[in-house]
Amino acid sequence: MTDPQNFYAEVGGAPVFEKLVSRFYQEVAADDVLLPLYPEKDLGPAEVRLRMFLEQYWGGPRTYSEQRGHPRLRMRHNPFKVGPIERDAWLRCMRIAVDEAGFDDAHREQIWQYMTYAAASMQNSDF
Ligand code: HEM
Repeated sequence: MTDPQNFYAEVGGAPVFEKLVSRFYQEVAADDVLLPLYPEKDLGPAEVRLRMFLEQYWGGPRTYSEQRGHPRLRMRHNPFKVGPIERDAWLRCMRIAVDEAGFDDAHREQIWQYMTYAAASMQNSDF
């Protein structure tokens, strides 16, 4: 398994993360469970924040923390109910994005493992 710090460079850097996150938000925009959670009508700023966060996590530029500070992602999700339905909707959108991002099998498996773990850890409601 790749060290997450090398992942960004190995998979092709910025254009790959751009494609991944824009495909994810294309699905969110059409999702009846997720879309109502977003406080802003324009999903653009949320897309930029998720892209910066993922780039940083996977060894790319640290712009997320420069602009947003410590991620504290669980805390930042507290205003939104994230139960099993929201988690599964998020993963459904992310599955499509990951499958279409052009990763080789090993990198796809690695980032998918992370997404399923991260989505479960963001849950803050049992229903
Ligand atoms: C922000 C929903 C999981 C990363 C948000 C926002 C919503 C949301 C509604 C606010 C949009 C905004 O930034 O304006 C959800 C739901 C999830 C989920 C329903 C279901 C499990 C995740 C996961 C990650 C993540 C697994 C990371 C791998 C982020 C980031 C932000 C964010 C980085 C922006 C935080 C900030 O800097 O303010 N999410 N999220 N989310 N989410 Fe999630």
